[in-house]
Amino acid sequence: MSDSQDSFVKTEPSLNGTDPGDLAPARRYAQIIGWGMYVPERVVTNVDLEQIVETSDEWIRSRTGIGERRIVSSPKETTASLAIRASRAALQVADVPASMLDMVICATSSPEYQFPATACLVQDALGAHRAGAYDLSAACSGFVYGLAMARGMILAGDADYVLVMGSETLSRIVDWTDRSTCILFGDGAGAVLLAASEEPGGVLSCALGSDGSGSDLLILPGGGSAIPTTLETVASRQHFVKMDGKGVFRFATRVMAEATREVAAKAGLSLAEIDVVIPHQANSRIIQSSVMRQLKIPEEKVFMNLERYGNTSTASIPIALCEAIEAGKVTPGQNLVLVGFGAGLTWGATAIKWCAPVTKQPSPWWKAARRRAGYQIASARSVWRRAARRVYAATLGPADAPTLRGRLRASIDAGRAVWEERKPDSLKPSPDDDEG
Ligand code: COA
Repeated sequence: MSDSQDSFVKTEPSLNGTDPGDLAPARRYAQIIGWGMYVPERVVTNVDLEQIVETSDEWIRSRTGIGERRIVSSPKETTASLAIRASRAALQVADVPASMLDMVICATSSPEYQFPATACLVQDALGAHRAGAYDLSAACSGFVYGLAMARGMILAGDADYVLVMGSETLSRIVDWTDRSTCILFGDGAGAVLLAASEEPGGVLSCALGSDGSGSDLLILPGGGSAIPTTLETVASRQHFVKMDGKGVFRFATRVMAEATREVAAKAGLSLAEIDVVIPHQANSRIIQSSVMRQLKIPEEKVFMNLERYGNTSTASIPIALCEAIEAGKVTPGQNLVLVGFGAGLTWGATAIKWCAPVTKQPSPWWKAARRRAGYQIASARSVWRRAARRVYAATLGPADAPTLRGRLRASIDAGRAVWEERKPDSLKPSPDDDEG
């Protein structure tokens, strides 16, 4: 860990242990100490989209504020691969090795698979061998939900370091023949590292909400338990995003304002005390109508970058956070509100007292080399574990035998049973053998 972030260390005595000792444990705070983002290189502009669907740059810009978006261009670019890059960047900023992580939370609406969780693939690639990992499904509110889960674990003493990411390859689940949705979304990933700290501040409060009665407003209907994938569901394009844009718009403008108010009040902040708002980057008109007009938060306090990325769902807030930091809009001591909404319907906001230094620390070459070596070792470890699992399964019998010797014995017994069953009749004992 860099010198500048020495205060963001595991609190002692640890709250994880069963014996807290004589001392009352120090109060814990969940501080964001690392951040990173990654977007694919390929840029798709509104003009490019004019070649695919009946639309125009003017229509898209005036209705949404979006000018271009990033789209994955190779099969190797997936939700996990984007998340891994963003996560590595976050760990680098924090100067914390992946081996220290206690939990990896991946918020995503376009996971690598139905299962296993994308978070597990990220955990494996990072070499976070002590960490639990799970995906969080709250659509575009997912990243804010993830921060709330991470904060809860840290304050409860169940974790010291939690990596939270939002990662999406929405271009793979968007219907490129539907102009009402395909113009909105983009691909990308953002990640933050939260750490237990004794320094007051960090994630101060969270306000999460849901309203499942609006589940049909924004939905990917096919491929789940309700509508399992069949040739018919594919032919009728049920495996793509469907949206009632106007319904989502009305809901979003209401909850963005309400959630911001609620989370600020929970943190003991007035709206005037909020220095920076980082809203979900879905539509500039939603942000203007909710955060700016209803709450009267001035434009210069509201960070927007959707013109360049479109709506990247769970990734939009962490990507915007990274760019706000890069642009010098976030400095220690400021009060931030991150606020989002999405399918579910869901919404969420979190208030943060920013404490981490934002100036780039020069990192010695050997640290970069050590990090690279760490990821290579993680990759080798993963290959080795897969291979060992195959060999083990093929040679050592059932996995429930308690010891290695037991497994060998079980394996030999199973082989014998097969031999007994299949051996030629000439080798089987005849009833005469018993006589005499
Ligand atoms: N290009 C050109 N015309 C388009 C178009 C496009 N890409 N998409 C829709 N239109 C047309 C419609 O067909 C409609 O034509 P009609 O009047 O002849 O029927 C017209 O534009 C107006 O459509 P409408 O849906 O009323 O537009 P809108 O002003 O509501 O804007 C959205 C549409 C999708 C931009 C807007 O509703 C929105 O942003 N909603 C929120 C969506 C969102 O944020 N989703 C993600 C949540 S995480």
